[in-house]
Amino acid sequence: MKKFYITTPLYYVNAAPHIGHAYCTVAADVLNRYMKGQGRESFLLTGTDEHGSKIEAAALAAGMTPKAWADEYAEKFRDLWKHLDVQYDDFIRTTEPRHEECVQKVFTALQESGDIHKGRYEGFYCVSCETYFTAVEAPDKDGKRYCPNTDCGKPLQVVAEESYFFKLSKYGKALLDLYRAKPGFLSPSHRANEIIRFVEGGLQDISISRTKVKWGVPVPGDPGHTVYVWFDALINYISAHGWGRDPQAFAAAWPADVHMVGKEIYRFHAVIWPAMLMALKVEPPSMVFAHGWWTVAGQKMGKSLGNFVDPRDVTRDYGVDAFRYFLLREVPFGNDGDYSPESMRKRYNADLANDLGNLLSRVVQMVDKYLDGQLPRGTDLSKAPQASRLSSEAGAFGAAMRKLAFSDALAIAWAGVGRLNGHVNATAPWALAKTDMDKTREILCDLVISLRIIAGWIEPFMPQTAAKMQSQLGVRRFPDGPPAEKISKGPPLFPRK
Ligand code: MSP
Repeated sequence: MKKFYITTPLYYVNAAPHIGHAYCTVAADVLNRYMKGQGRESFLLTGTDEHGSKIEAAALAAGMTPKAWADEYAEKFRDLWKHLDVQYDDFIRTTEPRHEECVQKVFTALQESGDIHKGRYEGFYCVSCETYFTAVEAPDKDGKRYCPNTDCGKPLQVVAEESYFFKLSKYGKALLDLYRAKPGFLSPSHRANEIIRFVEGGLQDISISRTKVKWGVPVPGDPGHTVYVWFDALINYISAHGWGRDPQAFAAAWPADVHMVGKEIYRFHAVIWPAMLMALKVEPPSMVFAHGWWTVAGQKMGKSLGNFVDPRDVTRDYGVDAFRYFLLREVPFGNDGDYSPESMRKRYNADLANDLGNLLSRVVQMVDKYLDGQLPRGTDLSKAPQASRLSSEAGAFGAAMRKLAFSDALAIAWAGVGRLNGHVNATAPWALAKTDMDKTREILCDLVISLRIIAGWIEPFMPQTAAKMQSQLGVRRFPDGPPAEKISKGPPLFPRK
């Protein structure tokens, strides 16, 4: 069976990673862990986008070579993923030979198929977005032109140079056919229209090489040109699996099941990328999912605004798991969200310290006190109404995960946590223990089994928490390990802040 293949965008190495980068990578990690937990062979690719004018300029400003700069920043991304418990299966840098060689192969293949031709480009370029704009898209304002992207607005460069072009115009109809044939390709569905309208409006051929930018992959046979950074970077999704080099490895992973991307780079992934693949005669991915953007206390995040949220500041205060939980619980994946220290603290105290943390410690303490930490062997679900209700919701939980509706999946888990807390209050096992030990045992067993189910559900989101819960709940981690049925108290999962 083909691997389930998930990708994140390749992050530009012009600055250190922030909460926006962490968002997509953590979401991809959650899906990857979920798939692996389901017994599926799953593969998560992430990495760094290291060529182009933006990185060239950042390195120059720091008095470093672009390569030395990229080495330093790529490491910051790797370190952060390690810190955030992201278990990627491969990390690709666009400066690696395996990638650069593949970019050149793709370029040559598309020249041979007649999809690339040489011409002259005259227009405008935003270095920050690494995007070309026409005079119509970026109208003259008092002799200057500005990036029309609402999140950017920076002054544009004038570009007039010889350039290679990719025949995007040829693929309009095929793209529309693809969107119709694979309805999940454009996800979430509320973002599909914007892409369909754009393609229906007619596509222009796009410039894919620069003569003025030296930091890039040289065009094969014409080294005065470097490949446009987006054309270069998109190819990572196939270069990492040996396209054009190792057909067997390639077939084991491709087509990608999910490209996770931010909404501002949706067009590159949902229009240009599948057209490039069509030109290469390679099947398009199954889904391109555009997630929303984080603002900070209602404001756009920006270096100049000084409000960058460093994930490490959040994890220092609340821990890695709480940060991962917050990112995926606070807003439906696909919508925009707002981060503020207050919203983080509120989620932490309400959902994690009060609801989940208290529930676990109450249940474990009671099992310790009334049952001497021992549960009867076996699981009789007929005497465990709470656990059987949770089991009956496993299908809905899984369906939400497969749709990338992470906040819905967590809402199902927390509705369960809420019910269990209510059940503890309503049955008051501490009082019942004085009169009816059998019933007390039954209730506590039900609660323990229920909490084991919850721990399993939250594992992809909060792996450390799930492990702590499982150890307190006496879950046997390995099928042939020693029976670990003993319930044992541990420190609180989430001390109140
Ligand atoms: N290098 C390109 C992607 C090439 S993929 C072949 C790029 N890099 S980026 O570093 O600018 O952005 C990477 C991702 O981070 C994008 O998906 C973007 O949406 C995400 N985010 C950057 N800031 C963000 C927020 N404030 N909020 C959420 N995600 C945002 O684009």
